[in-house]
Amino acid sequence: MAARRSAILNVMTATAQKAARSLVRDFGEVENLQVSRKGPADFVSSADMAAEKIIKTELKKARPDYGFLMEESGAAPGKDKDTRWVVDPLDGTTNFLHGVPHWAISIALEHGKEVVAAVVYDPVKDEMFMAEKGQGAFVNNKRMRVSGRSHLDAAMIATGMPFKGRASSPTYPQELERVSAEVAAVRRFGSAALDLAYVAMGRYDGFWEWHLSPWDTAAGMLLVTEAGGFVTEVGGGKNPIYGDSVLATNQILHTHLNKLIKPTVARAVKTVTKTASDKAA
Ligand code: IPD
Ligand code: CA
Ligand code: CA
Ligand code: CA
Repeated sequence: MAARRSAILNVMTATAQKAARSLVRDFGEVENLQVSRKGPADFVSSADMAAEKIIKTELKKARPDYGFLMEESGAAPGKDKDTRWVVDPLDGTTNFLHGVPHWAISIALEHGKEVVAAVVYDPVKDEMFMAEKGQGAFVNNKRMRVSGRSHLDAAMIATGMPFKGRASSPTYPQELERVSAEVAAVRRFGSAALDLAYVAMGRYDGFWEWHLSPWDTAAGMLLVTEAGGFVTEVGGGKNPIYGDSVLATNQILHTHLNKLIKPTVARAVKTVTKTASDKAA
């Protein structure tokens, strides 16, 4: 089935492509970029700033009343108080600055606290991941579905290291050890937006990370749910975009992976599983 591109997805994909042209140029000469540090492992460069400016200009031109929540310039409410763009102009800055070709632009549209449209674009591989609420998820012109793997010992699971330092996630080393012991492979590629897109596409069977921000997860989360997957917080909490963690999986592995990451929440996991299968039924 071909992708259904509504007017809003056209705006979002065109904007992502325009920002991508600037990023690709900068990627070709990373040594000339101005770089500063926002936290122990949180960098920002002139490439991030240039891309963010392009995105803001384009989206404002197309929908003047919508507000913004952007990684580098923060929140800017619009006339329309219910609708805003949640944007990461460059997800995977550390990869980008090291010349590693794995990074993306992430744009989500939030309406009434719900994400209704999402675009994650990887210009290096020319993969445009997109979704609209209730309309399914697509990569370029192809429909995306989460994987059907049902056994952890065959699963590839992605994760992110706690980027705020070990102290922020003291349980992470044990989580990683437990998961690594049970699954076929663990991957850590450094772009949460692409990690989620890859779960949506069925490349990964699951992904978890702590302390991400809304601009890292808002678009990717809709990709996963529209591709038939589940996204919660670790432990089953229902607010992965604004909560302290995200756990995204295919239909089948959510309970198993949740239990492995956080064995003390087996009860909460049962509730989530029931809700999820109720929805699927
Ligand atoms: C980062 C990436 C990375 C994740 C970090 C994020 P940035 O985003 O998504 O995979 O582990 O926590 O901050 O800073 O490159 O946009
Ligand atoms: Ca950052
Ligand atoms: Ca990010
Ligand atoms: Ca970023």
